[in-house]
Amino acid sequence: MPTASLTIDPAARVGPINRRLFGSFVEHLGRCVYDGIYEPGHPTSDADGFRTDVLELVRELGISTVRYPGGNFVSGYRWEDGVGPREQRPRRLDLAWHSLETNEVGLDEFARWSARAGTELMLALNLGTRGVQEALDLLEYANIRSGSALAEQRIANGTPEPHGVRMWCLGNEMDGPWQIGHRSADDYGKLAAQTARAMRMIDPDLELVACGSSSRAMPTFGEWERVVLEHAYDEVDYISCHAYYDEKPGDLGSFLASPVDMDLFIEQVAAVIDDVAARRGTDKRVAISFDEWNVWYLDRYHDEDKVTDPQSWPIAPRLLEDSYTVADAVVVGGLLMSLVRHADRVTSASLAQLVNVIAPIMTEPGGEVWRQTTFFPFAITSRLARGYALAVAVDTGDYDCAAYGSVPLVDAAATHDPELGTGLFLVNRSQSEAVEVSVDVSALGPVAVAEALTLSDPDPHARNVHGDSSRVAARVNTTASLEQRSLKITLPPVSWTAVHLRSVA
Ligand code: AHR
Repeated sequence: MPTASLTIDPAARVGPINRRLFGSFVEHLGRCVYDGIYEPGHPTSDADGFRTDVLELVRELGISTVRYPGGNFVSGYRWEDGVGPREQRPRRLDLAWHSLETNEVGLDEFARWSARAGTELMLALNLGTRGVQEALDLLEYANIRSGSALAEQRIANGTPEPHGVRMWCLGNEMDGPWQIGHRSADDYGKLAAQTARAMRMIDPDLELVACGSSSRAMPTFGEWERVVLEHAYDEVDYISCHAYYDEKPGDLGSFLASPVDMDLFIEQVAAVIDDVAARRGTDKRVAISFDEWNVWYLDRYHDEDKVTDPQSWPIAPRLLEDSYTVADAVVVGGLLMSLVRHADRVTSASLAQLVNVIAPIMTEPGGEVWRQTTFFPFAITSRLARGYALAVAVDTGDYDCAAYGSVPLVDAAATHDPELGTGLFLVNRSQSEAVEVSVDVSALGPVAVAEALTLSDPDPHARNVHGDSSRVAARVNTTASLEQRSLKITLPPVSWTAVHLRSVA
């Protein structure tokens, strides 16, 4: 059996784990909002039409922040359409997804949902069809207590308290030609800096996110970040990264190694940040907001599937409803490990998205809610990855894959919290063999295995589907044992594992 060994040292701190690493994303797209979080008439819905069975799973998932309302949608969105009396709200064409937006849910409703879910609201601004003035208007409506026209409008609309939104995204994927209002890095950098400067005149302490690249494969990657930051470095707190991965037919090996790409993405963006900072002679360190990441079978979504005639654009169609496999969940777990080991640079991240649309949670109208395979690594990592990220080096074999060359068979990340204990996260990328892992835990002092959970299946493409929604879950790994300050655990092929070690001193 192949082996892997590593050492956990609580002194080998990379950086504190920011809870915002476990954020998600709700876009007005497909059935994420309508028939997702919101379905008046569903047996579990509350007085506001929010499904409480969905809310329960959102809480179990351990979501910290929720980015809203897009995505590509936001670049054509007029936030004013979504506030005030519902019967007066206009229906609008959503150009991004060829849908009809009813505006039944807008900022005030979503903020209420977010509070009920126990999450922090992170708002994205439309810098596609709009600009500085509309950003200021939304900030005034959302955050000013009273006394100004838009604050009073919010109060008159039934929301007496301001929403107090701290994090704001200055547009969405402005580097992408598909984006409404797509621009050059130079034009976007100036607009982002102007918008940020104006917003800070209202509140200097806002946390502002400039758009980075939509993927590491964008032709403008690197140069985009450099130019945007040259304009906006002093004005912003974050630059974003977005990345989606999928399994190409016949190449599971490359897919399982997707975190190699995410590691590189983060490290290269960090290098550009440091370069711009050095040349500007500033000690300020812009952080990374990885505010869209997931497995997404983008190839299954074709532009020609879009309804072309705007007269017939549907309300809340079934779009991007990927059904996730065990392998997808292993990759999601691995991507979280990449975020955790870069906790010193990535202090905010959003799994895209939350319900129905490339989501860990699925619903049927009038019917059940269920956990996709990807739900488990997210929920468990969010629960156990606390305190500090630790540097861990794994001594293991490797294999060749088409996308990234030689990659390690076993991937690992670890965290340590003086109260909660140690979280160890492991992936076995072998498609055929179990791996025996030995972990030197002597630096932790006396510990016990509080929990050892593994997600795997004899079929790496097994899924949880409507009507058969509990085949895949993270289950107890009975091989975990401690022998003389060494943790031994066996990882099945194509698996993700979490171990919680608790101090017994
Ligand atoms: O999450 C789906 C889409 O992916 C978002 O709308 C967009 O920002 C990205 O391209």
